[in-house]
Amino acid sequence: DEELKEIKKMFIVACGSAYHAGVTAKYVIEGLARIPVEVDLASEFRYRNPILEEGTMVVVISQSGETADTLEALRQAKQRGFKVLGIVNVVGSSIAREADAVIYTHAGREVSVASTKAYTVQTALLSLFALHLGLLRGNICESEAQKFCFSLSRELPEKIDEVIAREDEVRALCLSLSQKESAFFIGRGVDAHICAEGALKLKEVSYINAQAYPAGELKHGTISLICKGLPVIAVSTQLSTAEKTAANIREVAARGADVYLVAPADFPQDGAKYIFSLPKAAEPLLPIIAATVTQLLAYHAALLRGCNVDKPRNLAKSVTVE
Ligand code: M6R
Repeated sequence: DEELKEIKKMFIVACGSAYHAGVTAKYVIEGLARIPVEVDLASEFRYRNPILEEGTMVVVISQSGETADTLEALRQAKQRGFKVLGIVNVVGSSIAREADAVIYTHAGREVSVASTKAYTVQTALLSLFALHLGLLRGNICESEAQKFCFSLSRELPEKIDEVIAREDEVRALCLSLSQKESAFFIGRGVDAHICAEGALKLKEVSYINAQAYPAGELKHGTISLICKGLPVIAVSTQLSTAEKTAANIREVAARGADVYLVAPADFPQDGAKYIFSLPKAAEPLLPIIAATVTQLLAYHAALLRGCNVDKPRNLAKSVTVE
């Protein structure tokens, strides 16, 4: 804790879904602990000689703990004299052994190639870590921390169970989606990164070409691709940006897109063709709950297309080579 109090900057390094968990964590850590966070893909970090200033803590995230690029990033950071914290699922894995400290996610053994529970737990755990940092540095008070902890430990699993119990609704949404060859995901702020992860999942298991964009970026080029019948999955969980995302939804709907909205029931719904209403929950939990919906979308779209959801083509569970 003494060292954590002194951190001036955090550098999060990971690959794939673990990287997306890291980007989501940036929002929570900067919000609760007011520590600037930079997030990098391990395959970029290792070759670009990144600027690591004194007071920087490097955090590597990995389900398997064996990902070659992430392990190499860890080694480089250590060689340069920086402390590395590993957020790892597999106990005793290489990253867990070589990091200066480890927080295990204990998500259980993940069999399927696609990271699902590992990603969700990484995101929840990084929120808890952000909370701890915020408390240590006096940015949040005990009662706020207790409230957030309660939300994470009680409310989050309940709400995710609620979403899973509504799986049939998600499957119904996939009847049309599964027949398409491409899709867009849009969202703002943290939701843009839930979208990036949702798009990765959809591509990975259903082979539908999916692209994610921060909704405000559409006008800068991508909107030219929007056409009749194109599926656009919009994730909107934050009240502060709900109206702005709603405006983007109307723009794509006006150009003929089929909008699938994943948002709380009381958010604007104009322009959405299909809606999955998120259960009522504390706002910081909603992105994680929405991620479960996007995982189910990918899962059912893949099943409906006859794909092997556990073992997608060309992929291995653990990427131990570059
Ligand atoms: O084991 P790791 O968390 O280090 O793996 C990182 C990525 O290879 C992994 O998250 C990958 O992107 C998943 N297949 C995505 O579902």
